[in-house]
Amino acid sequence: MSEWTRVASTSDLKPGRMMQVTVDDEPVCLARTADAEFLATSDICSHEYVLLHDGFLEGDEVECPEHGSMFSMRTGEVKNLPATQPVGVYDVKIEGEDIYLRPREEANA
Ligand code: FES
Repeated sequence: MSEWTRVASTSDLKPGRMMQVTVDDEPVCLARTADAEFLATSDICSHEYVLLHDGFLEGDEVECPEHGSMFSMRTGEVKNLPATQPVGVYDVKIEGEDIYLRPREEANA
């Protein structure tokens, strides 16, 4: 089981915005939805090497800025082509004002 990593404070991100953080030397896209929920996926699009936090947050989905692939930030699954592979997802834990992330381990991995 992976350890939790503190990546940011809740005040670092306004609702509807995304930022890049790092977990285990991997770039992670951390988002705060309009409903003030924190979600996190890999920051690298599965189509090409493009940073997702430079894209667009729509509800709980992130849209890649390069070719418009969309991914669920809850499950990592592709919601819009051209990407065909999912992106990794991180579990989020909030303690006070501290945001912690942990790579989600798939049940059948
Ligand atoms: S690089 Fe993200 S959709 Fe092509």
